[in-house]
Amino acid sequence: MINDERINKILYGGDYNPEQWPEEIWEEDMRLLALAGIDIVTLNVFSWAALQPDENTYDFSKLDKIMDLVEKNGLKVCMATSTAAHPAWMAKRHPDILRTDFSGRKHKFGGRHNSCQNSPTYQKYSVLLARKLAERYGNRECIVGWHVCNEYGGECYCDNCEKAFRQWLKEKYKTIDHLNRAWNTAFWGHTFYDWDEIVLPNLLSEHFEENRTTFQGISLDYRRFNSEGMLKCFKAEYDAIKSVIPDAKITTNLMGFYKPLDYQMWAKAMDFISWDNYPANEDPYSRIAMNHDLMRGIKGGQPFVLMEQTPSVTNWLSYNALKRPGVMRLWSYQAMAHGADAVMFFQMRRSIGACEKYHGAVIDHAGTENTRVFREIQALGQELKKLGDKTLGAVSCARAAVFVDWDNWWGIEYSAGPSCDLKYLDEVFLYYQALEEQNYAVDIIGTEDDLKKYDVVIAPILYMTKGGYDEKIRSFVNGGGTFITTFFSGYVDEHDLVITGGYPGKLRDILGIWVEESDALPPDMTNRFLYEGKEYPAALLCDIMHLEGAKELAVYQKDFYADTPVITVNRFGKGKAYYMGTRSSKEFYKVFLRNILEEQGILPVLKAPEGVEATERFKGEKGYLFVLNHNNRPVTCVVKDERTDLLTGIFYPAGSEVEMKPKDVMILESV
Ligand code: GLA
Ligand code: ZN
Repeated sequence: MINDERINKILYGGDYNPEQWPEEIWEEDMRLLALAGIDIVTLNVFSWAALQPDENTYDFSKLDKIMDLVEKNGLKVCMATSTAAHPAWMAKRHPDILRTDFSGRKHKFGGRHNSCQNSPTYQKYSVLLARKLAERYGNRECIVGWHVCNEYGGECYCDNCEKAFRQWLKEKYKTIDHLNRAWNTAFWGHTFYDWDEIVLPNLLSEHFEENRTTFQGISLDYRRFNSEGMLKCFKAEYDAIKSVIPDAKITTNLMGFYKPLDYQMWAKAMDFISWDNYPANEDPYSRIAMNHDLMRGIKGGQPFVLMEQTPSVTNWLSYNALKRPGVMRLWSYQAMAHGADAVMFFQMRRSIGACEKYHGAVIDHAGTENTRVFREIQALGQELKKLGDKTLGAVSCARAAVFVDWDNWWGIEYSAGPSCDLKYLDEVFLYYQALEEQNYAVDIIGTEDDLKKYDVVIAPILYMTKGGYDEKIRSFVNGGGTFITTFFSGYVDEHDLVITGGYPGKLRDILGIWVEESDALPPDMTNRFLYEGKEYPAALLCDIMHLEGAKELAVYQKDFYADTPVITVNRFGKGKAYYMGTRSSKEFYKVFLRNILEEQGILPVLKAPEGVEATERFKGEKGYLFVLNHNNRPVTCVVKDERTDLLTGIFYPAGSEVEMKPKDVMILESV
């Protein structure tokens, strides 16, 4: 579905479940989908029970018919493997497939995403089904992508998982002594003498709440084990499909910043990235953008597929507000602005029973084209046809990057102290938002990405410096890069064991400071500092530090550490390393980061009124500037250089003032 010569436009479509409907209705579906400009359907997402009615029988007759139907109607297909919900008979006959939850309760049949990843039954039958589908449909021209399972997630604490966890630990630590050291089991007399003594960390053992554990090392390893274990399930289906269709393009739909699964690791195993975007109406647009940028970043900047979004409402919120007129279009283009090469929905026709019957769809319960939602979908369909292949494959080009890492995320949020309000993504978002809302191009990167591509790298709360990552930062800064990090950084190694000798551990020489203590402030308390003559709050954590070569940029104004540094900068080799010893306000980050980027000669993609987002994607000689007015009011934007708006065909000479309607979009092509 990405980099495919058969595709010459932004693919437009989504999940289609005709198996839930009588066949009489299928032809009408085809008429309506064509009218809406839909050209791709994701089929077979939840059909395992239909495809495999018992242990030895497979029945593809209905799927054959559906394939014939969509093929005849010229639709492309994203073929799912159906393995996100197992059949009831399978659960009854092979209870090992059922999950045990965090409280230790063995589940019965029901729901979805319900299979234990270490169940021999799941492993056998999911892979078999994937292979059979590949064998049966591999030569169908219309299939442009394979969609394994659906939104992998959750976890299991059954006996099979416990055994697999011990095995995973053996492979990782080799000896029980290594494991005891890594987990610091001398604490509270936890020393293990035999692998079989180790149990899964949940409410029956180390946890007293979901995120509160007495042994971070154990819980952290369980997170890794769980993410890798599920990835193994993906890979097993992936290999089964590839063994039949070597050139198949395979994905699974991710969920943006989804904590349980380390998507940076997952991305390496996927042919292309796809993801499901379900923001709430009140989410800041930059929060949605951060997810898109992550999804682009995990695959080295490669365009991705927006696999699902709702055309109008979801069903699973407490208050399922409608997407306002124009918002579906705006958010579809926002996805493209950040790297999407396909725009897809959940789902084509609204079902009549069970929990998704009030979830938005292209075809509503009214069953006609005469709805606001349908008309908006149809209008976007026409625009995307007109746009053709212009932006397909175009890439972003950022000189600033924000670093994120799942081990850090897990480690920080398992931490007992210093503050229960310390949330990794909240801190990451403050920095990302300051860049994004000022329209600086930014990439989201992980430990394996090359830092040399960037002039400025920001790593909010780099708590864990695993696998020599400090060395990578050291050589980046040494070579002239600008690095920014924050409080609670450099504390621990990959086992969550403290690096002794003073914080921020291995980052100390790069930052030129020693942090002696850190004061956690309750939500109603703040300290203050002056930056460029303006006062800003210091909240959450206040590091108390000593300069070891760094220069202070601001000092605390009160408490016993008044007049000690809160923000510092250190010259290191040819570069600079900034340390932000506290959390401040949105306004502060805007100014602070703007100063740092300007010093590097980095300019915003477009200087625009507040609430107007701009990104640029590049292809060959051309630049495509996406300008999105998220406001409910009209704005005026100044187009710097000569450009043509691909959506209206209007040519704008350099310096043109363009009036944009609320929620409107321009895609400005350079000349
Ligand atoms: C997820 C799933 C879909 C559907 C939608 C509803 O994203 O992948 O199958 O349940 O949620 O929002
Ligand atoms: Zn299990």
